[in-house]
Parts: sequence; structure tokens; C-alpha cells
Amino acid sequence: MYTKEMLESIKKVEANREANAALEPRRMTAEEKDELLRTYHPDYKQGEFAVLSVGPNKGEKVPTELAALLQANSRIKPEEIDLSKPDYDTDVLIIGGGGAGASAAIEADNAGAKVMIVTKLRMGDANTMMAEGGIQAADKPNDSPAIHYLDAFGGGHFAAKPELLRTLVTEAPEAIQWLNDLGVEFDKAPDGTMVTTHGGGTSRKRMHAAKDYSGAEIMRTLRDEVLNRQIPVVDFTAAIELILDENGRAAGAVLLNMETKEILIARAKTVIIATGGAGRLHYQGFPTSNHYGATADGLILAYRAGAKLLYADTLQYHPTGAAFPEQIFGALVTEKVRSLGAKLINVDGEAFMHPLETRDVSAASIIRECNARGKGVATGSGLGVWLDTPMIELKGGKGTIEKRIPAMMRMFGKYGIDIRKEPILVYPTLHYQNGGIDITADCQSGVENLFVAGEAVGGIHGRNRLMGNSLLDIIVFGRNAGRNAANRSKDVTVGKLSLEHVDAFAKELEQAGVHSDIVSPKLLPDYRRNK
Ligand code: FUM
Repeated sequence: MYTKEMLESIKKVEANREANAALEPRRMTAEEKDELLRTYHPDYKQGEFAVLSVGPNKGEKVPTELAALLQANSRIKPEEIDLSKPDYDTDVLIIGGGGAGASAAIEADNAGAKVMIVTKLRMGDANTMMAEGGIQAADKPNDSPAIHYLDAFGGGHFAAKPELLRTLVTEAPEAIQWLNDLGVEFDKAPDGTMVTTHGGGTSRKRMHAAKDYSGAEIMRTLRDEVLNRQIPVVDFTAAIELILDENGRAAGAVLLNMETKEILIARAKTVIIATGGAGRLHYQGFPTSNHYGATADGLILAYRAGAKLLYADTLQYHPTGAAFPEQIFGALVTEKVRSLGAKLINVDGEAFMHPLETRDVSAASIIRECNARGKGVATGSGLGVWLDTPMIELKGGKGTIEKRIPAMMRMFGKYGIDIRKEPILVYPTLHYQNGGIDITADCQSGVENLFVAGEAVGGIHGRNRLMGNSLLDIIVFGRNAGRNAANRSKDVTVGKLSLEHVDAFAKELEQAGVHSDIVSPKLLPDYRRNK
């Protein structure tokens, strides 16, 4: 499978394997990290951002692709929409069928609310399903939520909203217990205790996993629970605009049936946005590890309705996307591979960084190795560095790979690469939206009765997220959003439905001289070559 040049480089990797495995590359200093990020991290490429001309974040910069969608045209003409006879009437409307939406639905149901989920694809078609490495929780005797907080706060450059991060870490152990009780099959030792590992930037082993398909296992369990409870799920139906009432409070959504193109109206006492991330916007031309539907829809809907965004200018590029073969370009190679002992090695067989620096630092380091130091391996479509997977079995013994990361073994095995014997090529891939909709501790956005959970939220992690804190946040904030939205719905009488905010936003765009020929939310990526 590998080319002649790659095989030449592999010889050097093999020659140095034992020495590199024994080596403990030093951690970078704070100053070195700052300099590295400023010079090589994509978040610092000023030309790739645009300043917003309208809306709650007017004057702030966001990626150009996101700016274009935030300042695009609505998919509807409000005057053509009949709001008088809603097709659905519910207490809590949840937009998004991933882990956050499912967790919210279960807790809203527990709280006695009438709840429904709409999802533009199918229940579980979400980034949750794609998550591999695990979920963090400080539930071992040598750990505590306070230590978890410090790791995450530092890893996020001290920018996380303290009240959100505190909620995340303090409710983590209970979230794991909840998932375990629902039936998630976590990796356990023979005595029943959870097996935990390190992630980048963690000072304790607190990553709980189900091999290397943790997200799929969690999503399977949550989806079963939603379906067993007979919570209504409307598949293949996208929210394309929020509906407010005459007092500007969230009161439902305009829906689009993705197959028939029929427009439907959902009236609700409260709404939860759980629409996930933005990888399919391919910021700066990066490939992505994200699900097909990750197009930042929730940010667009909320922004047009008046909700503020937080840190929308910061994205996470997972250091180890597959760089070769081309068929899996950008697919996630879980950080767990490094947790288990594999190191990052350049074309000359040198271990060039500590394998468990935080993600932004690791990604920038790989970009520097390839693009500035000329130490990358040519892949045919770009560059990559080696992730020396055979080191895992040097450290953990024969059979570790098959037992702990079988999905990785299978993914590369399909292309004739046996990761137990050969290293793999990796390069950063667009993985996570660090920013999103600004919320309060009770998950409410700047629009009354509009709640948000999961990757659509900004501020839980600051300007960089540690591995395993996303599977955690979809559970913690999904559950809280479900409970809070359900409880709020008990005091809400829905007023007159309105789409005035859509017209008002269009007027604002016109007054600012912003003219766009695209519509948003985008809903799906478009990979056609000749449009
Ligand atoms: O590397 C990973 O398995 C990804 C985990 C995460 O983003 O939390």
C-alpha cells in the first residue's frame, strides 16, 4: 500500500522505534506553545476570517465560511408561511438527534413534558456517533472534579466560562453512572472498575471508553432509550428558521421535510438547539472528521433570532486525521492511539514532540514539522507525519491494539495497512467547533425560552477542548437543557407566532450593504464538482 518513498522513511521509523518508545520528549513551555500557536495554528491565520457587519456579534471576526452563512438569506419568505395551523404542538421542541438532543429528550420526558425531536437526517446521524476515544470524568480516588477543572481550564487557555466548566466537571461522575445504568458497555477490569486512560492535557487517567467506538456505543444506548420511551422523532426534517412569539421568546420552528420539501410548522413552549458542529464547512480547506450533517445550522438559526455567539472564531483541528490512504483522508485517528503509547515521528524517524500535548499545540506542531521544517512525508495529496502504532504493543504487549482500538485496526486494515506492524500517516483534520451559542448556567441562550446543548454551545471549554470533554458535555448539558426547558415550559403560554425577526435581520443586512446570493442554514455539504 505504501509508496517506495514511504517505505524508505518507514525503515528509519523502525530503526529508531525502540529508542523513540523509551524516550520521554519534553513538554513545551507556555512561551513556546504561545509562539507555536501564533505562527502555525489555523485560528491565527488572519486572512481566513471576516468581520460580521450585522447581528449580536457585529464587529467580531468569525471564519469567512461561517460569516457568509450568518449573513446569508433565509430559506423562507416569512409572508408566505402560514403560522396559524401548526403541524406539531409540543412543550419542548428539540432540534437535533445526536447525543445532546437525545439526552435532553430523556430528561424532558422524565420531567413530565411533552417532547419531540426533529432531525434533518436520522436519529444518531451525528458527531456523537463518530466519537472514538472516550469520555472524561473524575471518579477515581486519585482524582477530583477540581483537578479535572484545572486541566480543562488550562487546556482551554483560561477562557472557559467558569460556571459552565464547573457544571461540566462536577456533574461528570454522575453522567458516567447514568450512562452505565442505561446500558453503555464501558471497558471494565475483571473486578468491574472502569478502565481509564490519559488524554492530551490530562493530569490524571480519567478517560472512560468503550474500546475506540465510545461515541457509537453511547449513541446506541441513548437512541434505544428515546425509542423505548416512544418519544416522537421526526426524521429527515430540518429546522430552517426559529419561530418567536410577539414578545421575542422562542416558540417553535419552521421545518423543511428534506425529501418532499414540504414546509411544516412546529409550535413549542420551549426550544432546544442541539444541532452539533461545523466540520462540513471545511474551514480553510481542511478535511474533517465530522458527520455529514455538521454545517453549523443551529448557530445560523439562533443568530438570526438574536442570540449572541461566543468564541465563534476558534476551531479545533484534531492533530491526527488520517492523511493516507486518500479514501479515509481526514477521518479521525483517535487520540487514544497516543494514550496507549504511539508517538508522532517525522520523515527522518525522529520523535519531534510529546505525544500528549493539548490538541491545538499538537496540531500546530505537526503543521510546523511538515510545512516549515520540511520533515513531513509526501502522501500524494499533501503531507503527513508518522504515528508509530507498533509502539503500542512494545509498551502494552501483544494483542493490545486489537483489544483497545479495534476500529482503528479495521479502518486501516481495509486498505492493507496492519497498524500492529506498520505506522500510519496523519495530519490535522477539522474536528470541533470550540465556539458556539453563548448560554447561561441553565443552558439558556440570549433568546428567552431558547436553550442550547452540545457542540452548538460556546464557552464550556474556552478556546480549545480536551479529548473526552465533548462526549461529556453533550450528556451533562443535554440533560440539564432537557430538564430546564421542560420545567420552564410549565409556566409558558405560547403567544402569537411570529417570523418578524427574519424580516428584521434581512433589513439589517440591507442597511449594512451586505448582499448575498446564498441561503442558510446550509443543511448539507455540496461536494459536486461541476455545480
Ligand atoms: O481522539 C478522539 O478520540 C476524539 C475525542 C474527542 O474529541 O473528545
